[in-house]
Amino acid sequence: MRREMAVQLTDRVAIVTGGASGIGRGIAAVLAQRGADVVIADIDRGQAQEACRAVEKLGRKALAVEADVTRRASTDAMVSAAISRFGKVDILVNNAGVGGGKDWWTRTQSSGDDWDYTYAVNVMGIVHGVESVQAHMKERRSGKIINIASTAGRRGTTGFVHYSASKASAINVSQAYALRLAPYNINVNCICPGLLWTPLWEKITERRQSSLPPEQRVSPREYFLQQVKAIVPLGREQTPEDVGKLTAFLASDIAHNITGQSINLNGGSYKN
Ligand SMILES: NC(=O)c1ccc[n+]([C@@H]2O[C@H](COP(=O)([O-])OP(=O)(O)OC[C@H]3O[C@@H](n4cnc5c(N)ncnc54)[C@H](O)[C@@H]3O)[C@@H](O)[C@H]2O)c1
Repeated sequence: MRREMAVQLTDRVAIVTGGASGIGRGIAAVLAQRGADVVIADIDRGQAQEACRAVEKLGRKALAVEADVTRRASTDAMVSAAISRFGKVDILVNNAGVGGGKDWWTRTQSSGDDWDYTYAVNVMGIVHGVESVQAHMKERRSGKIINIASTAGRRGTTGFVHYSASKASAINVSQAYALRLAPYNINVNCICPGLLWTPLWEKITERRQSSLPPEQRVSPREYFLQQVKAIVPLGREQTPEDVGKLTAFLASDIAHNITGQSINLNGGSYKN
């Protein structure tokens, strides 16, 4: 029987941006299972409240905060809400991310709006989160920040240029903040997931299959699994729970000497 040694985060307080869906929701659940109380910060308030109920079912406290990470005032309010409810923030997970501007999945070429909006959410969302929480973490001389980038940020791609570029930037920004915050005992790391079946990837399948003749199209899930088979050496998809477990590790005391790193969680895949 396989036994897993679970990292414990008893009584830590975590904020997860984009925690209402997909990967963020999985991260919130794993952090709660390990003993943390969780603030779910998302632009979608209804879904955030639902994600909170899932955390509460795991026996931990949760708070839903409506937040738009493209706005610094909104991430400031998110951090204030977390501190007034729980008294502290130990962990910030900057996970909120988008594939492009409005209806990006209906285009095969990047529009100006795709460039602007991915940068606003995938890069400035991280910057705003860090800027909002850093004074509190510096004062406590303790903090763990985990940013969710992507394997797509490792190298340029032909079709999804704006997205890859935003994720490459997310990796670089994480390295910069790791250096800047190291003197205050704040660790900043980055996770680069590969292929995960979430609402985001459902839209990617729509985008990629839009140029195919109808007879060659398959169901979104089937297309996704074909990609997994073609790209992932380990031959299996990655899951929000996988990302949650790596987040829990990076947020734990075991990882106290790890900072400025970006870790692929992609089954060994070499392209995206
Ligand atoms: N799914 C994958 O295969 C995959 C792979 C690599 C990286 N990622 C990254 O993982 C992260 C989560 O992706 P996902 O697949 O769970 O996507 P998702 O679309 O399921 O979830 C994204 C969440 O972010 C929220 N969000 C979007 N814009 C926001 C904003 N301005 N402010 C606050 N919240 C906002 C959404 O409401 C949603 O709840 C993203 O950064 C994504 O780029 C995903």
